[in-house]
Amino acid sequence: MKTIITGGAGFIGSAVVPALINEGHDIYVLDNLSFGSREFIKISDDRFFLADIRDYAKIREIFNLIKPDIVIHLAAIHFIPYCNQHPFEAADTNIRGTMNVLRACGEMNGLKKFFFASTAAVYPILDVAVTETYELHPLDIYGLSKLTGEHLCKEFYLTTGVDTTVCRFFNAFGPNETNPHLIPEIEKQLRSGSRIIKLGNLTPRRDFIHTFDMANAVKHLLELKDSGYETFNLGRGIEYSIVDIVKSFERQLNQKIEIEIDPERVRKVEREHLLADVTKLKKYTGWKPEWDIDEGIRNLIQNWNK
Ligand SMILES: NC(=O)c1ccc[n+]([C@@H]2O[C@H](COP(=O)([O-])OP(=O)(O)OC[C@H]3O[C@@H](n4cnc5c(N)ncnc54)[C@H](O)[C@@H]3O)[C@@H](O)[C@H]2O)c1
Repeated sequence: MKTIITGGAGFIGSAVVPALINEGHDIYVLDNLSFGSREFIKISDDRFFLADIRDYAKIREIFNLIKPDIVIHLAAIHFIPYCNQHPFEAADTNIRGTMNVLRACGEMNGLKKFFFASTAAVYPILDVAVTETYELHPLDIYGLSKLTGEHLCKEFYLTTGVDTTVCRFFNAFGPNETNPHLIPEIEKQLRSGSRIIKLGNLTPRRDFIHTFDMANAVKHLLELKDSGYETFNLGRGIEYSIVDIVKSFERQLNQKIEIEIDPERVRKVEREHLLADVTKLKKYTGWKPEWDIDEGIRNLIQNWNK
């Protein structure tokens, strides 16, 4: 299988690329390295294309050269505070960029599967585990741009008949984080030697899933034959509060950590819960998450001095 991964040099891409290489995929990565890093992925230069998904002519040229069987579209502007500060850039990449990638896919013969990285941010504020059939109501430009991406994928499937999988990622954690999310922020403060860490809202609970488990789920989803158009949640199915995460660091370091609320970091509008119901993904693929929070955080700490 020839597989192009857009955004493959990013955080989640850095787990997906080796997982699929292990499965025998012939991997090509297309990334503008705006957030990702070339060093995250061990592939040769002839398999790496420094390109921007907003440049349609370039995308088409690369796709025509490679003639992929599968396209995994991860490239996006993803960090919500950054999207809020740069809404036009976020919309341009996440909507127009996705239109370009889909257009180039539609002009090729032989594409077997298109995979789109969507997000839990398409859901409204809820306090239950969400299934894929829940009403959709994004709260910000990021979620809105991804929901638009989902609609574009549906249109692509209806006009081309190419199997199209939309996967709503929940909160990823693992090595190679590119954006200052909660866990890398805690790591940064702890690595500076402090055991009093400054955080914002402590009550929100999130479904943290390790990127190695995500990569494994992507692999399983790509194996589904004649899958048509389907949408899947990808989370661990467990909610952790911010305090739970800090407690996990305490257990792994075997040291007491104090939390100080930093008013500058407190968000005025916040989702208290974000939890995936992953019944559909498990039923269709047999996938099971293997990395729990303690194991994932232990692995991060073990890499601090590498
Ligand atoms: N990390 C999460 O918790 C999470 C949750 C939900 C959804 N997602 C989605 O998963 C995908 C991967 O996210 P990630 O966490 O690895 O983020 P990331 O920022 O590390 O990866 C995105 C990659 O896309 C590249 N990119 C950005 N703009 C581009 C452009 N115009 N042209 C080409 N490449 C471009 C970046 O350089 C980066 O390597 C994204 O689509 C994101 O929206 C991530």
